[in-house]
Amino acid sequence: MSTRTATLDDLDAIMALEHASFPTDAWSPAMMREELASPHGWYVVVEEAGRLVGYAGLRAVRGAKDADIQTITIAETARGRGRGRALLTELLEEAERRGVHDVFLEVRADNPVAQSLYASEGFAEVGRRPRYYQPDDVDAIVMQLDLRGWAARRALDGAETTGKGWC
Ligand SMILES: CC(C)(COP(=O)(O)OP(=O)(O)OC[C@H]1O[C@@H](n2cnc3c(N)ncnc32)[C@H](O)[C@@H]1OP(=O)(O)O)[C@@H](O)C(=O)NCCC(=O)NCCS
Repeated sequence: MSTRTATLDDLDAIMALEHASFPTDAWSPAMMREELASPHGWYVVVEEAGRLVGYAGLRAVRGAKDADIQTITIAETARGRGRGRALLTELLEEAERRGVHDVFLEVRADNPVAQSLYASEGFAEVGRRPRYYQPDDVDAIVMQLDLRGWAARRALDGAETTGKGWC
């Protein structure tokens, strides 16, 4: 597995995965192109044997204290092996580099797998948008992460791991 920053050359592979993962509400190629080209965005991809098997994107306007996780997707055959968490971690690290304090995202109420990933990193529900996802008529759960708290927990985890090594 290797991760790298996405480029516009990844657009076709990203769109193939976008349609497979979000059959009823996929973004258009034009929207995705705009995301990849935006100076406020930051997209990463994960590859296996030269094949793109996942992507994720952050929107963090330079100088702003809030940022958004725009999307995150792993190909069905590659799920459940840590790749989703790896991409999310990369986005949060980039948000940290940009001086962000709070990260927000929206997740479908009928997507417990993604909710579990976000909750395990410290995201908490702060609101709901009724019937946000159409045509499926599904609510959006709005989640927020205190990024400095997240970074502090990671530093502590690293320290504890190091500590165990010394024993
Ligand atoms: C959500 C998604 C990105 C997770 O990626 P992944 O590579 O499968 O996830 P990981 O292997 O990194 O697992 C991270 C966490 O997700 C949760 N998770 C993963 N698979 C799960 C499953 N089958 N059931 C319940 N929780 C699961 C767990 O909390 C897991 O942590 P753990 O391994 O410590 O238990 C992936 O399932 C996906 O692409 N889904 C379709 C697109 C999507 O829904 N995107 C999110 C839009 S908001």
